[in-house]
Amino acid sequence: MTRQFSRLLLAGCTALFITPLSHAQGDPDAGAQLVNQGDGSGAPCMACHGPDGGGNAVAGFPRLAGLDAGYLAKQIQDYNSGRRVSPVMQPNVDNFSEQQAQDIAAYYASLPVPASTAASSASESQLAMGKKLAEEGDWDNSIPPCSTCHGPGNRGVGDAFPALAGQHPSYIKQQLEAWQNGQRKNDPNQLMTAVAERLSSEQVEAVAAYLGTLSTQPAKAQ
Ligand code: HEC
Ligand code: HEC
Repeated sequence: MTRQFSRLLLAGCTALFITPLSHAQGDPDAGAQLVNQGDGSGAPCMACHGPDGGGNAVAGFPRLAGLDAGYLAKQIQDYNSGRRVSPVMQPNVDNFSEQQAQDIAAYYASLPVPASTAASSASESQLAMGKKLAEEGDWDNSIPPCSTCHGPGNRGVGDAFPALAGQHPSYIKQQLEAWQNGQRKNDPNQLMTAVAERLSSEQVEAVAAYLGTLSTQPAKAQ
């Protein structure tokens, strides 16, 4: 069972690597204007995602700065088309053209990642459990390490696998629960659904807390 599952995952991952989402080039300057001033139809993105794209840990608004442009553009398009459901986010992007989505994505991807300010209240044993899941998985329950797909240090791989390192734990937890209860299902090949549905609520807390403590900067030497 375990071996079958890992073969499935590997096949899924390989398929994503060889069929990258095709996307046009975005213009970060045009994106900056939309993010900071909006298009006149609603709150500008910075009202929730912050002037530096750092998001908001307490409110659970994700950090967008430094995420991959292709990943961001896909999420904006998914909200736009209703493939990703969020009553808070959808109205912000539902009138954007594909080019505007690309421009915004290019802008956020170009921003430096703000230093995390979140003070973790997680216990040492929670963080240890989170680290084990992130790096070694929990094979007894057929859960692969997050880093299998999200890359070394969970700093993201290409446009399919977003960086999790340094993301707000409140947001990570919320997304894992959204996959568990079927609210989020825009992941290619249900790769994340298969992982999330195997996690216990204790594991969700632990891995979210651990990922939030990780550095978002690429490792200097490994
Ligand atoms: C009222 C607050 C609010 C505003 C304004 C807002 N967002 Fe969001 N954004 C959220 C929340 C909440 C989420 C998480 C929603 C979910 O669970 O899917 C989110 C998620 C996202 C994501 C997904 C990030 C990820 O890591 O998958 C993107 C991309 C995004 N927003 C872009 C934008 C852009 C672009 C704008 C401006 C056009 C914008 N947001 C305006 C609250 C906001
Ligand atoms: C088999 C590959 C795979 C594995 C293993 C995996 N993920 Fe993912 N994950 C994905 C993909 C693909 C996405 C992007 C989905 C999309 O395009 O919306 C994703 C997205 C996410 C997101 C949403 C990020 C955001 O910015 O909205 C979170 C949170 C997440 N994964 C957590 C985890 C955790 C925690 C683990 C380990 C317990 C894990 N993932 C293991 C494939 C994987």
